[in-house]
Amino acid sequence: MGLWRNGLAAALLARACLGDNAPDQGPGLHALMVGAGKLFFGTATDTNLFNDTQYLAIANSSSMFGIRVPENSQKWQPTEPTQGRFAFANPDDVAVTSRANGQLLRCHTLTWHSQLPNFVQTTAWTRDTLTAAIQSHIANVVGHFKGQCYSWDVVNEALNDNGTIRNDVFFQTMGTDYIPVSFAAAAAADPGAKLYYNDFNLETIAAKADAALQIVRLVQSAGLRIDGVGFQAHLNVGFTPNRTALAATLSRFTALGVEVAFTELDIAHTKLPPDAAAIEQQARDYVSVVGSCLAVAKCVGIVVWEFTDKYSWIPSTFPGKGDACLFDANFTKKPAYTAVSSLLAAAATGGPPQGGGGGGSFGGGVGGGSGGSGNGTSGSLNGGSRAGSVGMNVGYAGGESSATATASLGQSPAAVSLAMSNIDGQISVATGPIWEQLSLRAVLCVSVSAVTFAMIL
Ligand SMILES: *[C@@H]1O[C@H](CO)[C@@H](O)[C@H](O)[C@H]1NC(C)=O
Ligand SMILES: *[C@@H]1O[C@H](CO)[C@@H](O)[C@H](O)[C@H]1NC(C)=O
Ligand SMILES: *[C@@H]1O[C@H](CO)[C@@H](O)[C@H](O)[C@H]1NC(C)=O
Ligand SMILES: *[C@@H]1O[C@H](CO)[C@@H](O)[C@H](O)[C@H]1NC(C)=O
Ligand SMILES: *[C@@H]1O[C@H](CO)[C@@H](O)[C@H](O)[C@H]1NC(C)=O
Ligand SMILES: *[C@@H]1O[C@H](CO)[C@@H](O)[C@H](O)[C@H]1NC(C)=O
Repeated sequence: MGLWRNGLAAALLARACLGDNAPDQGPGLHALMVGAGKLFFGTATDTNLFNDTQYLAIANSSSMFGIRVPENSQKWQPTEPTQGRFAFANPDDVAVTSRANGQLLRCHTLTWHSQLPNFVQTTAWTRDTLTAAIQSHIANVVGHFKGQCYSWDVVNEALNDNGTIRNDVFFQTMGTDYIPVSFAAAAAADPGAKLYYNDFNLETIAAKADAALQIVRLVQSAGLRIDGVGFQAHLNVGFTPNRTALAATLSRFTALGVEVAFTELDIAHTKLPPDAAAIEQQARDYVSVVGSCLAVAKCVGIVVWEFTDKYSWIPSTFPGKGDACLFDANFTKKPAYTAVSSLLAAAATGGPPQGGGGGGSFGGGVGGGSGGSGNGTSGSLNGGSRAGSVGMNVGYAGGESSATATASLGQSPAAVSLAMSNIDGQISVATGPIWEQLSLRAVLCVSVSAVTFAMIL
């Protein structure tokens, strides 16, 4: 075992991770996500919040969020409240502000059992009349937004948790035929939008994931286009599957030729207020989700279901649960934010080492100054007998001092260990698979004045 140690003497300005809420300092989550090779990191938002300038300053930042989803205003009830009468003012406003700020739009949602107008629930449908109603709704709504949507959630939440099809008005009237009918209508109305099936608990319940795979096959076998599956990822702190397990689930879907995304991510505390351990666990859980997307090539991006606890849907829908977002109710970045940011920064800077035997390379950096992040020196790891490299990026970005590193060696990641400390003597040694250590390290973020790390090969 060789031991290689590098001390970064350059002082980082000591400052706690918490307390910064200026969105324009340092790269935001979307910028980092793109740097890590993905299409987007985004947020749900809606026009009822557009009078909160503190909120909008963050929502408008294309560095922070590269895609928006109308949280409610594009659903069936608000867009077609009475049959044949369409209303688009609110989702148009979301679309216009997305475009004005250089952000994409994720469109949500078409055929869904909830937030339906009365007429859908109370009309005595036949198979033919409900088919026509679905086709009319989709032709009008998707047609209205044609060319503006990165993707549409065509069918949402068709499944019960046990994997059976939800017994809603659509299933009662049409069996599962409403699913291909919806995908066919959406494909006809906007050939450029990616068409998604979207659901929750696919991350945690295998029977439900199995059934969602069946839905993909159902649409494909009808000769229709389905481009993606959205994993809503409404998760709970301490009950979030690890990165490996999540990546394995995502991969079951990409094996069918569709892309995947996390589309409504939030991770709720089940006890409020959360204690320090729960706050760290939330950071690790967020890192598991984001890390699993990084690990799967056809995972295109992540959308959070609001970014601030101030406007999360969780407390009103699930009393006793909450604090599920990356920013708290005062728009302060939480440890989960810092952990995700660090993970993404590491994914961008610690490029995968391509090594045969005989050494590797080290890329490291220290970014200083308010609002900055940067790369510093880089050097070589000489004389090693193993292939590999480690990349390290220490950023002082808008009040955050955090250190991240990625490593990928010519050996099993589980055989690698990494140790880190800050110069103040608070030492944390992580053991185990390298990718799990990243999450540990991410929540280490404290008032760092300098960082020393050692990589033990
Ligand atoms: C925004 O408008 C709503 C509805 O008029 C109001 O209840 C809320 O207090 C306003 N919020 C801010 C930050 O002005
Ligand atoms: C957000 O963006 C919209 C659209 O460009 C703009 O009208 C609004 O003033 C912006 N608000 C803030 C707080 O940046
Ligand atoms: C599956 O779940 C649904 C909804 O909770 C329920 O109505 C149905 O009986 C369940 N089916 C089985 C086979 O357990
Ligand atoms: C991840 O979770 C799976 C399923 O619970 C488990 O089998 C596996 O050991 C876990 N992996 C790690 C690295 O903890
Ligand atoms: C937000 O700020 C107010 C006023 O400073 C404070 O009372 C409250 O506890 C803060 N909320 C959170 C979640 O930190
Ligand atoms: C760090 O280096 C990468 C790769 O050369 C570059 O793309 C990036 O802009 C650099 N970041 C900063 C803040 O200088």
